[in-house]
Amino acid sequence: MTSATLDRTGALSLLARCDELAAHSTLPGGLIRRVYLTAEHRAVNALAGQWMIEAGMRTWQDAAGNQCGRLEGSTPGLPALLLGSHLDTVPSAGRYDGILGVLIAIAAVDRIHASGIRLPVALEVVAFGDEEGTRFGRALLGSRALAGTSDPAWLDLTDEQGITLREAYRAFGLDPDALGAAARQPDDLVGYLEAHIEQGPYLEEAGHALGIVSTIAGARRFSLTVNGRAGHSGTPFERRHDALAGAAEIVTVIEATARSAGIIATVGHLEVFPNAVNVIPGRVELSLDLRAESDADRDGVWKQISDALTEICDRRGLTVDARQTHSAPAVACSARLRDAVAAGIARTGNADPLFLLSRAGHDGMAVAAVTEIAMLFIRCRGGVSHHPDEHVLAADVAAATDAFEAAVLALVAAETPRSPAAPADAAAPAATPPA
Ligand code: GLV
Ligand code: MN
Ligand code: MN
Repeated sequence: MTSATLDRTGALSLLARCDELAAHSTLPGGLIRRVYLTAEHRAVNALAGQWMIEAGMRTWQDAAGNQCGRLEGSTPGLPALLLGSHLDTVPSAGRYDGILGVLIAIAAVDRIHASGIRLPVALEVVAFGDEEGTRFGRALLGSRALAGTSDPAWLDLTDEQGITLREAYRAFGLDPDALGAAARQPDDLVGYLEAHIEQGPYLEEAGHALGIVSTIAGARRFSLTVNGRAGHSGTPFERRHDALAGAAEIVTVIEATARSAGIIATVGHLEVFPNAVNVIPGRVELSLDLRAESDADRDGVWKQISDALTEICDRRGLTVDARQTHSAPAVACSARLRDAVAAGIARTGNADPLFLLSRAGHDGMAVAAVTEIAMLFIRCRGGVSHHPDEHVLAADVAAATDAFEAAVLALVAAETPRSPAAPADAAAPAATPPA
């Protein structure tokens, strides 16, 4: 595609919006880190909200800080097809994970609004405030609030500065005790569609721009603390209880156990105390992230790992505490919505798309508690994500926007007309401010 063609499809403007959002970061030097309930979160919500308004939507920020926009259907107050993804990032992130999906959803609504078609459902875009769990260690806080599955105990979670989630909601201007108002009811929803980069690279290897998610892998995360005894580095080996040597063995056992079971496991965070060159490490904190297509496999591997932790620590005179910080079951995408995504991709010329397991987690995992979900995957270079090198082709973004819009229309065409979910002036959820 030439750049003139891409400009006409809107792909170049959409990528320019990704760049604009990337500027809202807490890290210097062009690196991106944007987390829940911060000034950067507020800034990207304002930008996304403005783009939603320009696309014809009425906007509000819900009780959990998710930025929402709604385009009414043929009658005000109809059940809504939700479209969306997230605007938060991991540390040193790329500029497309989550963000691209939000912008594609806004672009699709913009086109449908501009075409003047009045649909038998409303369309809502949700830009979730927390999917990655970077700030409070608990993922999907935005989408779980929308699904009504938040646990009040999470309000006591703390960030690196010791600020609780409760305090962070207040500082953001939200009432932590009113979080329930963000929850949506199944009868008010038609489904949830999300476009996302494929953290692959199976699409790239197959030479496909777009694909369909079959299942999102189930995940569990743990915070592990290995306790030993700090002491002088002159201490002989037989008198040591070195927490880091034990943690190192634990890391390799985790990898070997997951590998042999055919699932994936990552230790991505490790802190050593007191972390001094001439002191035997007395305590190590490490994270564990487990993912598998089946929850039974994931849980079976955790059982093997936890037995190995006990064996390693007993042998080395250490103790270990394991605290689960996140658990999400594997979610199969619905056939009805997958068919719509396939119809959307077919409109771009691929009648035989790939179906892929998503090992990455997505907001749809939480949203599936209230409505059926499906996802469109977009090729990204080398499958690289959670890294500044994340990259997508403008031509793929153009194809993805076409496919996403066509998927929405295909899904809506198959929809049996339903009655308005509420009177017109109360169409949006309780957290919605008046238009
Ligand atoms: C989010 O990207 C996750 O898979 O952890
Ligand atoms: Mn991510
Ligand atoms: Mn993501």
